[in-house]
Amino acid sequence: MHPMLTIAVRAARSAGDIINRSANNQDRLQIHYKSQNDYATEVDRMAEQDIIRIIKAAFPEHAILAEESGQHPGNDYVWIIDPLDGTTNFIHGFPVYAVSIALQIKGKIEVGVVYDPLRDELFTAERGGGAMLNNRRIRVTRQAGLNGALIGTGFPFKHPEHLDAYLAMFRALHSDSAGVRRAGAAALDLAYVAMGRLDGFWEIGLHPWDMAAGILLIKEAGGVVTDFAFKDNYLESGNLITGNPKMHQAMYRAIEPHVTDCLKSVQGL
Ligand code: IPD
Ligand code: CA
Ligand code: CA
Repeated sequence: MHPMLTIAVRAARSAGDIINRSANNQDRLQIHYKSQNDYATEVDRMAEQDIIRIIKAAFPEHAILAEESGQHPGNDYVWIIDPLDGTTNFIHGFPVYAVSIALQIKGKIEVGVVYDPLRDELFTAERGGGAMLNNRRIRVTRQAGLNGALIGTGFPFKHPEHLDAYLAMFRALHSDSAGVRRAGAAALDLAYVAMGRLDGFWEIGLHPWDMAAGILLIKEAGGVVTDFAFKDNYLESGNLITGNPKMHQAMYRAIEPHVTDCLKSVQGL
């Protein structure tokens, strides 16, 4: 195993232990309001500090981009961390949340880990080395199109300005598919695409820490990931369509007429 993947796994499992230990004390959680519909708890912060401690002990010169504490300067190696993806679920005791850790080297995602501490499911990937669930190889589905497909999504609840465009996309996809699921933890949704529990996924306005690890998982599992302009500026735009090559194509065709110019363009690129 890539030595940096070993550290990512150690950090994800350690954060998962913190999350599991706190999961029975939801009543006593201190909830901090960050912005509209955006919350963090002390568990998010403790898990993040723990992950950073483990990474910094192994690689003191590496940089970090973490959801709760932001950017920590360093060299060209950047760890992208979501200590608890699915915080709203966690706060409500809705059992769908995960830890997400990725390592980007000179702009390329090299290592990714998504860990579901409730189910003890560890999704790992290294670039060129395939994707795994608990050390067993995983692949995206062979679903050939929308008909019969199970599709994941996230609602743009932090971006009400995109709601109309989103609803038009939803309308275009849901009637032809077997169903659309909104589970509330994007990192886990992407891991589920990589292992075939979902045939495809799309969302507007994600952050790099929600998706960096999941994107590598999907690519290494044979899937395709693009933004809404059919390009690979998803980390910058936050907009994502993904699935196996045929699903991606079918979803893109259904969504494309509803993509506004604003969703297509990435500021500064
Ligand atoms: C959120 C979850 C959710 C997605 C949001 C994310 P958080 O992450 O991934 O599924 O729809 O856009 O912000 O805040 O729980 O880490
Ligand atoms: Ca997140
Ligand atoms: Ca989070």
